[in-house]
Amino acid sequence: MDSIKITGYGENNTIKKQINRGKEKEFSFDSEKFREDNRISIDITNIFNKPGSNAISKGDIEAIIPDVVTAHRQLLENRGDILDNNIPMTGWVDLPVKISAEHIERIKALVKRISPQIDAFVSLGIGGSYLGIEATIRALTHNHFNQLTRKARGNAPEIYFLGQNMDPDYFRDTLDMLDGKRIAVNVISKSGTTTETAIAFRIIRRLMEKNMGNEADSLIIATTDKLKGALKNLADKKGYETFVVPDDIGGRFSVLSDVGLIGLAMANIDIQEFIAGFKAMREITQTDDFWKNPALVHAAVRHAAWLKGKKIEVIATNSNSLMPVARWMEQLFPESEGHRGHGMWLSTSLYSEKLHANGQMVQDGERNLLETFLLLERHDNSIDIPGDADNIDGLNFLSDRGLDMNFINRKVIEGPAWAHYKGGVPNMTINIPERNAFNIGQLYYLMEKSVAISGYLLGHNPFMQPGVEAYKKAMFAMAGKPGYEDEAKKMEREMAGQERIIIK
Ligand code: PA5
Repeated sequence: MDSIKITGYGENNTIKKQINRGKEKEFSFDSEKFREDNRISIDITNIFNKPGSNAISKGDIEAIIPDVVTAHRQLLENRGDILDNNIPMTGWVDLPVKISAEHIERIKALVKRISPQIDAFVSLGIGGSYLGIEATIRALTHNHFNQLTRKARGNAPEIYFLGQNMDPDYFRDTLDMLDGKRIAVNVISKSGTTTETAIAFRIIRRLMEKNMGNEADSLIIATTDKLKGALKNLADKKGYETFVVPDDIGGRFSVLSDVGLIGLAMANIDIQEFIAGFKAMREITQTDDFWKNPALVHAAVRHAAWLKGKKIEVIATNSNSLMPVARWMEQLFPESEGHRGHGMWLSTSLYSEKLHANGQMVQDGERNLLETFLLLERHDNSIDIPGDADNIDGLNFLSDRGLDMNFINRKVIEGPAWAHYKGGVPNMTINIPERNAFNIGQLYYLMEKSVAISGYLLGHNPFMQPGVEAYKKAMFAMAGKPGYEDEAKKMEREMAGQERIIIK
């Protein structure tokens, strides 16, 4: 049987971009034209006066503008409930303008040293020490990155993630992918004690040392606290190259720090363009002029929706590559908002796929939903829809008018936006012009500022996550970790008093 050839489709533009980035071509992100072509916007038309009860009006938004502006002022002036261990956790606000050229050079030098020596790079971490790195790499690279040739990846190594779960099958399958390859690892943990990351590191480190001997130490990078913690101590002892998770930046706000930059640079993402995106959105969102500041409007809309009983936010995108970005948001918002009985649950969806799964519920189920679309306006590639002599599916109108898959994929957002609005779901669309590092950087900063304002509006500190500690404590007690004996005994007692209900 002959094999299939995809002649007629031209070069894959995502691969083209990857290869070009590998050539280290410098270009300015400050040109007015570039900024105009890459301006993220939020369409909130469908938020207002949705049919049915609990509609949100423009008046509802106007009523909270003074609080939103006050919250913004407090954030910019480092005031309010923002301390963790007595440190104001707002270092991310000005980080975009604080990263020095020397620091960028240090990261580039690291990549230059390590990348040629390895076939695969393994990033270890969980939560904020994982999600943003994977999201950005997936957003900006080929959907089957690791299966491409090194040249098509723009000379980047394969990239893998571990330590984000404790599933031995997933771990083993990933080890299979690494078998026989030369690897380097970046172990990322601000606290340096997160169990999942630490266990993954033990295993990978043991394998590296067994296979490479002393050479392993030069291929291990530790990204952790500047001064303290188990990982920092081990790194000092072993002489690993270390990078820092800043004291005043929490995990989920840290993608622009070394936490994100090292992995992105290793995947051949232009980190200067990424930083430029953060900077641009920082500038855009500096103003207190409410309707000109998308972060303030985004925060106000979500807060008004929450006050009207919207308890779940569906984040839906028409881009497979942006799904991990939605997952990054799925951490940023709930971990920052889910305190003292507050906050919206986020549910991520790839449309069309999910329209045929949970679309019925969104259209017609309980009206407790807010929907936010991440609409990718220009995909990298264009796929024509072929005409058909018999036109049995009735789709020749598309080919006759020269409409391609991009056109349909836009309707995959615009159609549900209208239908769901009519069905009683207020929705907004975040328009992302194209997949580039500038736009992803802009989006991250916009969301970070919005969620910080949201914390102020809800009246709690959005930069802590005491709830995450609760599970760790229970897990350690159950696993028998020394130091947790009292907790374990208490748990056993309470569990013994519970009526076990197991249905077989
Ligand atoms: O946002 C956060 O602070 C958390 O999600 C952390 O990033 C996550 O718990 C991992 O922590 P650490 O980097 O200390 O291992």
